[in-house]
Amino acid sequence: MDLGLSGKRVLVAASSRGLGAAAALEFAREGAKVAICARNADRLQATAESIRAETGSEVFPVVADLTVPDDIERLTSSVIERFGGLDILVTNAGGPPSGTFDETPQEAWDAAVQLTLMSAVRLIRAALPALRKSDSAAILTVTSVSVKQPIRALLLSNSIRMAVIGLTKTLAEELGPEGIRVNSILPGWTRTERVEELLAANVKRYGTTREEEIAKRTQTIPLRRMASPEEFAKVAVFLCSPAASYVTGAMIPVDGGAIKATL
Ligand SMILES: NC(=O)c1ccc[n+]([C@@H]2O[C@H](COP(=O)([O-])OP(=O)(O)OC[C@H]3O[C@@H](n4cnc5c(N)ncnc54)[C@H](OP(=O)(O)O)[C@@H]3O)[C@@H](O)[C@H]2O)c1
Repeated sequence: MDLGLSGKRVLVAASSRGLGAAAALEFAREGAKVAICARNADRLQATAESIRAETGSEVFPVVADLTVPDDIERLTSSVIERFGGLDILVTNAGGPPSGTFDETPQEAWDAAVQLTLMSAVRLIRAALPALRKSDSAAILTVTSVSVKQPIRALLLSNSIRMAVIGLTKTLAEELGPEGIRVNSILPGWTRTERVEELLAANVKRYGTTREEEIAKRTQTIPLRRMASPEEFAKVAVFLCSPAASYVTGAMIPVDGGAIKATL
């Protein structure tokens, strides 16, 4: 199937590694022009070079902190100027810190709202004028299975990602008449660098093996394993592509069946 992404102009936020980098690579494999961003300039540059080397597609790296409003303005305007417009926006960011309610100070709530919710709001606000000029505009928010099934000691993610879903569903309704599609992916456990770091820390802390740590997290998942970042990315790219032209307002889990609710 031709996804129809050749020549499309894409911005994937938070994308020097992990889910964002995997999505950017997959868009580039489909012939799209891709802009990526992150805070660490060296890692961002290395990711851009590796995507270019593998795909031959245009990759535009912009150093930006998604918690800084001016950075988001600069990021989106430079991408729109460089590509002469924008067709697809993927909102993504680092995850908020873990913790229970008692462990979470007020400042952590404020910071998590900026990182998880307001980065998406600001990216969409800044990108919308360009998306409105596209004939195949799509927005994808990256959330988590935590919006369907709260995860223990991930209070901030459990709470604030729900607002991103409210934003996604509302925008699907408001922008649908203009032909702009808005969807969300709810990733489950995916073997990104962040998750590998978390596993390694637990191996050290509990004297377990990596396989034992993975098994703890996957024993109730029907597919009994974590996803690869590429498995997430293929769904992300499909949802944003013209091949998914009648899909909007959808909350798609990529979780190996982890969410057990019937709806
Ligand atoms: N992996 C999973 O199993 C999983 C499951 C459900 C949800 N999620 C969520 O999906 C998102 C991505 O997760 P991941 O596993 O891919 O994480 P990751 O491997 O740590 O990658 C995060 C990426 O975002 C960038 N980033 C982080 N904070 C940023 C900021 N303030 N401004 C700009 N860029 C920023 C990082 O680069 P710099 O550090 O250089 O900025 C990096 O490129 C997170 O919100 C995570 O909570 C992940």
